Amino acid sequence: MTHPNRRPLIAGNWKMHKTVSESVALARAIADTRIGPRTDVVVAPVFTALSSVRAALEGTAVALSAQNLHWEAQGAFTGEVSAAMLVDVGCRFVIIGHSERRQLFGETDDGVAKKTRAARAAGLVPIVCVGETLSEREAGITFDVIGRQLDAMLAVLDEKALATTVVAYEPVWAIGTGKTAKASDAQLAHAFLRDRAKNKLGDGGDTLRILYGGSVKADNAAELLAQPDIDGALVGGASLDAEGFGRIIRAAG
Ligand code: PGA
Repeated sequence: MTHPNRRPLIAGNWKMHKTVSESVALARAIADTRIGPRTDVVVAPVFTALSSVRAALEGTAVALSAQNLHWEAQGAFTGEVSAAMLVDVGCRFVIIGHSERRQLFGETDDGVAKKTRAARAAGLVPIVCVGETLSEREAGITFDVIGRQLDAMLAVLDEKALATTVVAYEPVWAIGTGKTAKASDAQLAHAFLRDRAKNKLGDGGDTLRILYGGSVKADNAAELLAQPDIDGALVGGASLDAEGFGRIIRAAG
């Protein structure tokens, strides 16, 4: 039986897309779609749109997320934004360690751990991304890679914290490529991650929400979301269209 804490969570990662007015329009359209009473919905616009999107989402069922943060509270860190600043602008979630940040901006497991700690200390729910590249999958080291990435995050958590932390399993080869992991392969990875969390921190691992990400679309969401250890989706491209994103939301229940 799935733990009751694991309400389905559908998160839209808008990446570096949309102006402020476009973001507000998309947020309004998503908030207007039918959202099941048991489903949590989150959108992650660019930093510059957070304030306006927050206002547009006031009183709706859709929560606000940032796409990144810095672990320090304040100071001489040009170009960075702290956890407290995200809370101040109305964020409840923050994406951490997305594979694009790891691959293009040199983020490390150590940085992900520090960001996870800072996010939690400020009261944000971290959505921590893990996932193997194609060459790592072909080399048969998928579980070594995602296990190592998960451990970095688990090292800064305790068992209780798992109920308010989210992991996103995103195979790098599936992101933005139109190639989705087979639902059964994704389930294996999710079960592996949950078992590892339970082994390290205890049965609280049953409360941890683990999202799948990588080319999730309206027509493949239902099969993925039906897997016992897939608790939701982190959606990139398909979250930029309210109609398609709404269909993914409804596939969750
Ligand atoms: P995609 O992106 O849905 O466009 O593959 C997912 C992600 O990067 O979070």
